[in-house]
Amino acid sequence: MSEPVTIAIDGPAASGKGTLARRLAAHFGLPHLDTGLTYRAVGHALMQVGLPLDNEDLAVEVAEHIDLGALDRDVLSAHEIGEAASRVAVMPRVRAALVDAQRRFASSGKGAVLDGRDIGTVVLPGATAKLYVTASPEVRARRRHEEINCNGGEAKYDDILADLRRRDERDMSRADSPLKPADDAHLIDTTEMDIEAAFRTALDFIEKAVAARN
Ligand code: C5P
Repeated sequence: MSEPVTIAIDGPAASGKGTLARRLAAHFGLPHLDTGLTYRAVGHALMQVGLPLDNEDLAVEVAEHIDLGALDRDVLSAHEIGEAASRVAVMPRVRAALVDAQRRFASSGKGAVLDGRDIGTVVLPGATAKLYVTASPEVRARRRHEEINCNGGEAKYDDILADLRRRDERDMSRADSPLKPADDAHLIDTTEMDIEAAFRTALDFIEKAVAARN
């Protein structure tokens, strides 16, 4: 692969897109950015110092100073930080600041894999290959529930399902960059698919997209 390859992966929470993105990045030897962590970092920074999540000026100030090299997945993956992230993610100026940083990451080398909600539609509309990964809310809630319990946390399945539905609704109905598949995205429904099958499906599509481009 001589020309840079950019892979855009979008989808709702716990659809499997993050795992898929990491596997694809390792396979192609490309850097990977989980853009959800950038929104989480903004929500987390505000929460930590007790600042409100609905003040756009404050959130923009934080977003403009995000260091992509210092995003700590262990800290930021907490379920309640996801909720905070989706609240700051409705603010257009916060999105503009983070999208700038995400585009710089994608264009800084031989290509990249980015996953999020608006990668194929807004961040990298010219990506080499676009995937939209989804699964039923019940299956996603079950996965998230197992993940939290495996890590020693305690959460009720019903609460997680309700949170995911609320977050889906907020992400899909916001005016700026709502979650939706790009017109040219390849859809992968992981409701009844394991990660291996999803990886094979994605690889097949990406290899064809790279070949069609060359
Ligand atoms: O993917 P993750 O659950 O970490 O994302 C947290 C929140 O960040 C999402 O619910 C969404 O509101 C926001 N987000 C976004 N655009 C992205 C990535 C995440 O709006 N590209």
